Amino acid sequence: MQLAMIQDKIVLIEALEPVYLDRGIFFGDGVYEVVRSYNGRIFALAEHLQRFSRSLNAIQITGIDIDLIRGRVRRAFDSAGIANAKIYFHITRGSGLRNHVGDAGLKPNFFLTVTELPDTTQEKTKGIAVSTHPDWRWKRCDIKSLNLLANVLARQDAARKGCAEAIFVDETGFITEGSASALFAIFGQKLQTAPLTANILPSITRKFVLAAGKNIGLEAVEKSLTPEQASSADELFIAVTTKDIVPVVRFDNKVISDGTPGRYTKLLIQEFQKFVI
Ligand code: PDD
Repeated sequence: MQLAMIQDKIVLIEALEPVYLDRGIFFGDGVYEVVRSYNGRIFALAEHLQRFSRSLNAIQITGIDIDLIRGRVRRAFDSAGIANAKIYFHITRGSGLRNHVGDAGLKPNFFLTVTELPDTTQEKTKGIAVSTHPDWRWKRCDIKSLNLLANVLARQDAARKGCAEAIFVDETGFITEGSASALFAIFGQKLQTAPLTANILPSITRKFVLAAGKNIGLEAVEKSLTPEQASSADELFIAVTTKDIVPVVRFDNKVISDGTPGRYTKLLIQEFQKFVI
C-alpha cells in the first residue's frame, strides 16, 4: 500500500490532493512573478508577463498561454477590489510522485494571491538599514525561480540584525542585489547599479528607476559595487515592485551620509510616481 502522512493523518497515495505532490514543494520546480497596483491600476503588467514568459522558457515549462495568465491576473485583481494590491502568481511544472525528471504528461499548476500592500510611508521617509550576506544562490538568478532558500536565510539574518533587507555579496567581493530587491547607489550625479547578468534578476523597477534617473539628469552607470564602495556612496536605495524606491540610511554598521534619505533619492521617488499614474 502506497501512502502519505499529513501531520498525523495517513492518506492513501491515490486519495492525496494533487497540491501535496506539487513539484514546487518537492523541488521549487516553478517560476513566479509579483505585480502590484497603484490606486486601482495594475502597474507594468506587460513587463512582468514578458519576464514570466522568459522564466518559463528558461526552465522549459511549455505550452503556457500568456494571454490566459493576463486574463486571470486581471480577473483576480478585479474580484479582490484592493486599490494598492500585491498580486503574486506562480506556475509549477505540475503534480506527481517525487522523481527528479518528472513523468511525461505533467500538467502545470497555476496559483495566485491578491493581498493588500502594507503602507511604506515610514520606510520611505526615514529610510531603512541593510546588512550584507554571502550570495549563496545558484548561477541563474535571472530566472525568477521558486527556489528562494538562500534569499529567505539572508533576509532572516538581516532581520535578526534589525535590518529590513539583506544585500548579497558574491564570492568575488561584489554586490549582486538585495534578497528581494535591486540596490542603487548615487555618487555625485551618477546613479550606479549592477549590470544585468545571470547573477541578478532583471528587475522591472530597476528599469523604471533608470528612466526616472535620466529624467532628473542622473547618469546611469551599470557597474557592480563592493560593499566598501556602497557604504561610502552619497545616497543608497533599494528598488522593488512592492515598494518602488526605499532609501537606505545604514549599510552594515556604516551610516550613509547624514543618515537621512538623500536628495536625489527623494526626487527619484517623486519622479517614479509619474510612471504609475
Ligand atoms: N522580488 N531581485 C530579487 C532577488 C528579487 O526577488 C526582486 C523582486 C527584485 C526586484 O524586482 P522587481 O523590480 O521586478 O520587483 C530584485 C519580489 C517582489 C519577491 O520575491 O517578492
